[in-house]
Amino acid sequence: MAIHHAQKRLIIPLPGNEELATAIATAGNYRLGALETRKFPDGESYIRFLDDVEDYDVDFICTLAHPDGNFLPLIFAADAAREFKARSVNLITPYLAYMRQDKRFNPGEAITSHTFARLVSSSFDSLLTIDPHLHRYHALSEIYTIPATNLASAPVLAAWISKNIPAPLLIGPDEESEQWVSQIGELSGAPFTVLRKTRYGDRNVEIHMGDLSQWQGRTPVLVDDIASSGRTMVEAAKQLADQGLPKPVCVVVHGLFAEDAYERLSAIAAKVVSTDCVPHISNAISVAELIVEELNASARHSGNPKEKNA
Ligand code: R5P
Repeated sequence: MAIHHAQKRLIIPLPGNEELATAIATAGNYRLGALETRKFPDGESYIRFLDDVEDYDVDFICTLAHPDGNFLPLIFAADAAREFKARSVNLITPYLAYMRQDKRFNPGEAITSHTFARLVSSSFDSLLTIDPHLHRYHALSEIYTIPATNLASAPVLAAWISKNIPAPLLIGPDEESEQWVSQIGELSGAPFTVLRKTRYGDRNVEIHMGDLSQWQGRTPVLVDDIASSGRTMVEAAKQLADQGLPKPVCVVVHGLFAEDAYERLSAIAAKVVSTDCVPHISNAISVAELIVEELNASARHSGNPKEKNA
């Protein structure tokens, strides 16, 4: 009897990604694998497969929120899976790192997005991610040479907002966020507005907000793809307070929350929620079903995912 494509899929989480991997395996009825990992006393990584991967399409689940520490074990695992004769070796990284350094802003700077894309492309057969920070690049294929699927979280964000926020006003804190808020506005039927941002440094931004008094009576919902230092959302929330609007609900796709970002934002927001693209206490919206739908669809179409939303 021929084995169906989906039955030969093996989902393997890298450390810290077990929850999402389990949700994906459960929702898709896939086999869930495991790695044994540890650090040697000198900090080098030890990796051992606990499953036979031969002839499986292996999907590693590894968010790249802290890429510098997580990338090397991931590459070791990918390389070993190939050696153990996996049919294909794929990366599902709900947060794709190193997308923001997409040009040389100052002389001598490394364009790390290029290098990172080259490294990933040389180790995996395909890449699946959620809302990568496409700003100056229009498609992952501009830098990734493997098939790269770019899923939008807008449907699950819109569903969460519709269910949980009465009379929302969607607010994108900067021009780049328009792509997300406009999509969520379309899906949820909520009005949206986009602010302007000037960034002076990693932790120093200025938000320019017009008069929002016509939206009194609505709940402001700040939506952004990434909260890193959190300053973008914090400054936008401050501006809302200055205009006498209610505290916002902050909805973020990739809650990186560096340093004290989450505490700062929580202090000024009514609520802070994120997707499980990056494991965090604020996770309230799961992308597992989105990923499973895509995996099932790509299996139906010969298991060769193509870039979407390009
Ligand atoms: C960049 O333009 C992104 O869309 C986010 O607005 C940005 O990464 C947020 O960074 P931070 O939280 O450090 O202000």
